[in-house]
Amino acid sequence: MRILVAGATGAVGRLLVPMLLDSGHEVIGLSRSASGLERVRQAGASAVQADAFDRDGMRQVVTTAAPDVVVHQLTALSDADGETTNRLREEGTRNLVDAANSAGAQRIIAQSIAWAYAPGEEPADEAVSLDFGAEQPRGAMVDGIRRLEETSAEMQTAVALRYGILYGPGTWYAPGGAVAAALSGDSKARLLAYLEADRSVTSFIHVADAARATVAAVDWPSGPVNIVDDEPAEGRQWVPVLAEALGTPAPELGTGRQNWARGASNALAHSRGWQPEHATWRTGFAEQGHRSTASTE
Ligand SMILES: NC(=O)c1ccc[n+]([C@@H]2O[C@H](COP(=O)([O-])OP(=O)(O)OC[C@H]3O[C@@H](n4cnc5c(N)ncnc54)[C@H](OP(=O)(O)O)[C@@H]3O)[C@@H](O)[C@H]2O)c1
Repeated sequence: MRILVAGATGAVGRLLVPMLLDSGHEVIGLSRSASGLERVRQAGASAVQADAFDRDGMRQVVTTAAPDVVVHQLTALSDADGETTNRLREEGTRNLVDAANSAGAQRIIAQSIAWAYAPGEEPADEAVSLDFGAEQPRGAMVDGIRRLEETSAEMQTAVALRYGILYGPGTWYAPGGAVAAALSGDSKARLLAYLEADRSVTSFIHVADAARATVAAVDWPSGPVNIVDDEPAEGRQWVPVLAEALGTPAPELGTGRQNWARGASNALAHSRGWQPEHATWRTGFAEQGHRSTASTE
């Protein structure tokens, strides 16, 4: 297949491009910058330059690339910029989907999130509705996710991969990243993350497992799929383990709980034959230090 990856230079895209090539696909990576194009080419893929907010520019490059599949990994989260990420999910998705449809692409695989579900006690499966009407700023994020998934669904086949919180190389949770700074008391660390060691439940996913799920989704039917590890966990459990792995002080344990923080079930992804190589954050957090310095994983 010819696969256009929008977001080819991001935390997931960087791992995804070589995996798609290894699976025998032709890959075209999109970036806004000359340095991004160079990185994509060094990975062995073709590269095209456009800004997702430039509707005409996107139409031009996607038409020329003529992909069968588009992968949407566009965020502005390396700058913890929730507002621009919401715009990318709305306007960026609109531009990408319209360009892909007019270029004759049949499938989109889009990066969504697994923590936009309505409140509940159990880890959410894909049948649970999104948390419409949530207070701001969460409400704007949920709305951005709804637009991302609804606009993607205008394509013939649309798979929304609802990733858990990403950890591993290139993420906020890697050694030396923004979470380590925040846990060390750096009040300037700009974060969208919730780091209380309380009863709120989070589902994580190693960034390489997220990339592997994206490769598998080239053959999946339409609809949302949670891509999370096997162990949703309370902050009381995972925050101290992460602090130890990052060499930062462990925060005090609390008893509060965000009612939407329920984690997610990966039963559907398992039923399709995908399983995380990093089955739990419990071992994954400690491994990411060695792996991030040694290789792309
Ligand atoms: N589920 C999660 O927990 C989750 C999901 C996503 C990200 N994050 C966090 O966010 C951090 C950064 O992630 P990331 O590296 O994927 O994000 P990023 O560096 O902000 O950007 C991701 C990709 O989007 C592209 N992009 C952004 N704006 C664009 C635009 N207007 N037009 C075209 N392309 C655009 C970038 O390409 P160019 O810059 O090359 O143009 C890049 O390839 C990570 O540390 C991760 O922890 C978390």
